[in-house]
Formats: sequence, C-alpha cells, structure tokens
Amino acid sequence: MSGQNIAQSLGGKSILLVVGGGVAAYKSLDLVRRLRERGARVRVVMTKAAKEFVTPLAFTSLSNEKVHDDLFSATDEQAMGHIQLSRDADLIVVAPATAHLLARAAQGLCDDLAATLLLATDKRALYAPAMNLRMWLAPATRRNVALLKQDGALFVGPEDGAMACGEYGPGRMSEPLEIVAAIEAALKGETRRPLQGAAARGPLSGRHVVVTSGPTHEAIDPVRYIANRSSGKQGHAVAAAAAAAGGRVTLVSGPVTLADPAGCDVVRVESACEMFAAVERAMPADVFIGAAAVADWRVEAAADKIKKEGAGAPAFALVENPDILAAVSHAADRPRVVVGFAAETRDVIAHAKEKLIRKGCDLIVANDVSEGSGVFGGDANEAHFVSPAGVESWPRMSKEAVAAQLVARLADILNKSEAGE
Ligand code: PMT
Repeated sequence: MSGQNIAQSLGGKSILLVVGGGVAAYKSLDLVRRLRERGARVRVVMTKAAKEFVTPLAFTSLSNEKVHDDLFSATDEQAMGHIQLSRDADLIVVAPATAHLLARAAQGLCDDLAATLLLATDKRALYAPAMNLRMWLAPATRRNVALLKQDGALFVGPEDGAMACGEYGPGRMSEPLEIVAAIEAALKGETRRPLQGAAARGPLSGRHVVVTSGPTHEAIDPVRYIANRSSGKQGHAVAAAAAAAGGRVTLVSGPVTLADPAGCDVVRVESACEMFAAVERAMPADVFIGAAAVADWRVEAAADKIKKEGAGAPAFALVENPDILAAVSHAADRPRVVVGFAAETRDVIAHAKEKLIRKGCDLIVANDVSEGSGVFGGDANEAHFVSPAGVESWPRMSKEAVAAQLVARLADILNKSEAGE
C-alpha cells in the first residue's frame, strides 16, 4: 500500500462505509484507499444497486476486508450480527448517498443491510450525497435531509459541477479527500448518534459511566482456565439502565453469553489483567461501577497444554491480580462516584463495610451469593446498599430493578455533589 509519508490521522479508527447505487461509487474506491493510507480500518457495505456500478471484489481488494451486502446472511450473523457491524465502527460514512438511500434512512426503513445498519447504529452517520441536481433540490429530498440533520446526521457536499447526466448544478459527490477531511473533523467531535426523547434528557445525560460485568477467565494453559459463576446479568443490567438514563456507557465485559445492552460501547475481555487495561483505557469517567466478579488470583499460564504424565497432579502457584476497583478509587483521575459490588456467602454487610473502606469506594452493593440464593446466574437479587451514611437493604427484586434503583441513586449523588450539597 502506498502513502508511507501520510500522517496516520485515522490510526485505530474504524469506518463503516455504506456504498449506495450511483455512478459516484467509483470515487468510493479511492475513498477506501485514502482512509487506509491514514490508518483507518474500513469495512464496506454495498446496496444491491451499488453492485451495478462497482464490484464487491474491488472493495474487498482495497479494504482487505470481506464486503457485506446481505441482511439475511446466516454466516455473517453467526460470525458477527449486523447490529454489531454498525456498533463496532467509530463512524458510518454513506458515500455515495443516493436520494433513495437518504429517503430510506430518513424514514427508518430497514429493507436491506445498509438501511438496517443506519437504523440500528448508535454512532453518527456522515452522508456524502450524489444525485441529479433536480433530485437534490426536490422538496422530498430537502425534507429527508432536514430530518436526518435533525436526528444528528452529518453531511459533506454535494458540490456544484457537471453531472454524468449532462446537467450542471449541485449534486456531485465531494472528492475523496474532502470526505476524508469531513471524517477527520467528525471523529474529533461526538461520534455517537445523539439520543432522542427520554434518554437525551435522562438523569445521566452528559456523564460517562464505566461498568464492569461478568466473570474473568484466568488461563492455566491454552485449553483450561479458572472461572467463577457470574453470568453478567447484574452488570449488564446496570450498564443498560445507565444508558437508558442517557449516560455514555462503556461496558467492559468478561466472557458472557448475553447480548450487548443497547446504547453501550462494549469492550470484551477474558482475564482480570485485560479487564484492568480496558478500564484504564476507558477512563476518564464520571462514574465507575465494578459489578464484575474479577478473579483475585491467576496462575502463570503454561504455553502448551499441561500433559497428564509423570507422578501426581501439577501444583500451581497463584499470583495476585490487580484490584481494579481499588486502583480506580485511588487513581489521580478518580471518577466522581466509584461503586463496588460485594459477593459474599456469610456476614454480607460486615464484609461489605470492610471492602468499602479497604477499596476506597463511595458505595458498595452487597449481595449474598451463597448456595441457594440463586443470585449467580439468576434473574433476581436481594441487595444491600452500603455507604458511609449507613446500610439500606432492598427487598428481593429483578436485577433490572436493582440496576434502575442504583442508577437513580447515582444521578442523585452526582446532582447533589454539583449543587455543593
Ligand atoms: O453476574 P451475575 O450472575 O448476574 O451475578 C451478579 C454478581 C453476584 C456477580 C454481582 O452482583 C456481584 O456481586 N459482583 C461482584 C463480584 C465480586 O467479585 O465481588 P468481590 O466481593 O470479590 O469483589 C468486590 C469488588 O471488587 C467488586 O466490585 C469487584 O468487581 C472488585 N474487584 C475484585 C477483585 C479484583 N481483582 N478487582 C476488582 O475490581
């Protein structure tokens, strides 16, 4: 690939490029090249009409990625759901954005993969329109563009110029380098699609909330690991409640079989050390909630499978894992509110009070995970809210209800601390 001297202004960024069916689709091939020169990962989605103008093979060759075009592809859904495709991107770029694609996006139709991704995404979309000037100036297109802008969409172009149809006026797709500049500008600002309605006005709007959830897996060798019984249901419910309250949520999740909660940026990890690194990367935050059941110890993993040979069972020396909650609590950029969970099998409240002090957090949500409590993996929880002010025991309720109560408390604490109370 050329462009060795070009600054990696998009290094580490992931762009989902939706290619609509217009003659300008050939320019999108160059756009892929320009983006990759700047360090971006580019995944391409083509509409059926786009394939009339440019072949998927051309995009595959330039992006070095599989091109996606089928909403009902069983293999794609197995490997990575189409919603995930839109969530993994830092920005969605629609180029060329045809009148038809703009209309479908404005109306929220999801009759193919491209339109479905545009509806399902939680990220901003940047449209580079390309169409005949009468179509661009038509009242229907004006309405659709206004609707999309109202919903937070960004636009680059179209430019005035001679069109493939022989007319002259606005409708030419911007040149690839202009689109690149618009992408760089968009990525400097807020890249998430602005929330509408209740979530936009929610009590956590404008706050960044980092949540850990699920178990960690500590490798013993390439085939075995140490784990625990956490399903992630409680932590994921907390992340979902924080997002529903308008927060920008980063969920750092250990290995779970749950779907990603809506509206959260999800970082998947395996081990405690990986979880710690992901939490550090996610900072700064206004709130940290450690709901994950992090392994306290790991073993030095063997490079190869440990064989059952020789005399006796192997002995493992345990190494202490970093305490993520304590580290976040004592960090220089400490979030304003740090919440831990405590999973105990006896003396629940006494242990939680001790952890509150030892780990330096503001609150502990304590729960009894002894056999028969049904908390690990179950749908309900009986929690105690432990703070320096005292202990409040909540009745047994769904994990979603525990999460909603906790989020309401956090919003209250943040508001009071801002009001200086
Ligand atoms: O996932 P579910 O099946 O829904 O079950 C929910 C739950 C029981 C896992 C959850 O409600 C819960 O209690 N989570 C915390 C489990 C735990 O690890 O508790 P602990 O008492 O060992 O740890 C105390 C706190 O320190 C926790 O906030 C934990 O995330 C944190 N910790 C622990 C060890 C470590 N190395 N780093 C940490 O950050």
